[in-house]
Amino acid sequence: MDQVEYLHKLAGEKEIDTWTRIMLLYRSAVEEINTKIDILNDEFQQTHRYNPIEYVKKRVKSPESIAKKLKRLGYDDDIEAMVTHCNDIAGIRIVCSFTSDIYRLADMIGRQSDITVLSIKDYIKHPKVSGYKSYHMIVTIPIFLSDSVVDTKVEIQIRTIAMDFWASLEHKIYYKFEGSAPAYISHDLRECSQIVSMLDAKMLSLNEAIMREKKRQDDELTVEQNAHERLDSLMKKESDL
Ligand code: GTP
Ligand code: MG
Repeated sequence: MDQVEYLHKLAGEKEIDTWTRIMLLYRSAVEEINTKIDILNDEFQQTHRYNPIEYVKKRVKSPESIAKKLKRLGYDDDIEAMVTHCNDIAGIRIVCSFTSDIYRLADMIGRQSDITVLSIKDYIKHPKVSGYKSYHMIVTIPIFLSDSVVDTKVEIQIRTIAMDFWASLEHKIYYKFEGSAPAYISHDLRECSQIVSMLDAKMLSLNEAIMREKKRQDDELTVEQNAHERLDSLMKKESDL
């Protein structure tokens, strides 16, 4: 069942109890997705000797932020409006090393059979006017309770360290000016966002060059080792004669 159906099932309970049960769903959903990400990262490390995730941040939105968002969107401040219209109550942010990791991870998450992708916003291919870049997915994941299975919404944001650096600073500046930063500051932030893209592209191609060079050196070493082994065995044969 979805969260609205679950809410209807709870009809008759005290509002505070319903609230507690709904928030338990969101907390559990964040933990479920977090575990999935840990597993993908571990497996990736084992098979590719490389760790695509730098860090993960998770949070459940505070009641104050939920109320503020519902008000901003013009909805009633009630639990049904919240589960229907507020898609980012459970939130996970995955910070990756390279842009290519973002799409690889998004694909791996989206293909898991218990996850349903409700929507995707690719602010990397289509950055916001502010200069904001990130890959957003709204998904649902089933939460198994004692008597129900509830598909619970989670917002997953995936970005590089450079994109995260930009977004964190922009967020602080935005709050300092309460949304009305002087034009030259917004302009400079957009410029910084372009620098972030250049940096990401450069780091990605540098990483590819490093991998190629490493492979070439490893191959060379293997050829050399094989030659040594052949020579050793020849010498051994000769001394056996
Ligand atoms: P919110 O109501 O802010 O959650 O936006 P939305 O429901 O329209 O979704 P959207 O995908 O646009 O943004 C979701 C989240 O992305 C926000 O809550 C922020 O965490 C982040 N975000 C979006 N735009 C910006 C931006 O311009 N700057 C920064 N720093 N973060 C942003
Ligand atoms: Mg949000």
